Amino acid sequence: MDTQTAARLTDQPDWLYLLQEFDVLYRHGSSGGSKLIRAHRKRVRDMLSKVVDSAPELRMRPPETKPVVAHLGRALDRGERGAVAGLARALGRVAAGLTWEYGYEKVPPTLARKYAYCEVLGPRGPVVSERLILGFVLFAPKTTYPQHSHADIEESYVSVSGAWSENDAAVHAPGSLILNGSGHEHRITTDETEPCLLAYAWIGPEEKLNAPGMKLTGTRGKRVERGI
Ligand SMILES: [Fe+2]
Repeated sequence: MDTQTAARLTDQPDWLYLLQEFDVLYRHGSSGGSKLIRAHRKRVRDMLSKVVDSAPELRMRPPETKPVVAHLGRALDRGERGAVAGLARALGRVAAGLTWEYGYEKVPPTLARKYAYCEVLGPRGPVVSERLILGFVLFAPKTTYPQHSHADIEESYVSVSGAWSENDAAVHAPGSLILNGSGHEHRITTDETEPCLLAYAWIGPEEKLNAPGMKLTGTRGKRVERGI
């Protein structure tokens, strides 16, 4: 039996508003003078506009939760007081329908309690798109997300709530964007006492977005199906 239910995005305004907030995020934030980041932001906006203009199908998947979702309320509370308040509020409106997942066949036990992601747009839905994925990843306080890279995928993370660091290089606050080009190795750590919620965008060929074959170098190079 097909457990998915299909509707049109235009019939589900909370999902449409969530995508509008993504557009705001990639339209109005600064690129910090980086041509690469400016071009990435524009690609995300252009692809998102195309998807929304096509009145896409909203293919709802069965909602799923994970232990880390116990921190979502706190992350949204803090996010709603920060620089990305609109997106935090819009996510709260659709929170009950999100499908939280790990992306791995076998998740390291410590990570299983501290991390999960959900997609809001992509080849698997809920908003159906071929070459762009938009989603959120949630980390519990004091999490280390192991070193990994994404082949043929351009990835950006934007902080919605909480402080985090990539490759021990800087501390990122709500509103900050990091661009990880194809193959760039990165490892994430989060604040000791507060959760961290990041919005992310992936651009890549459809077959890669469906099965990116991401390599988690921090767990003996085990190949995995997905992940962020
Ligand atoms: Fe990543």
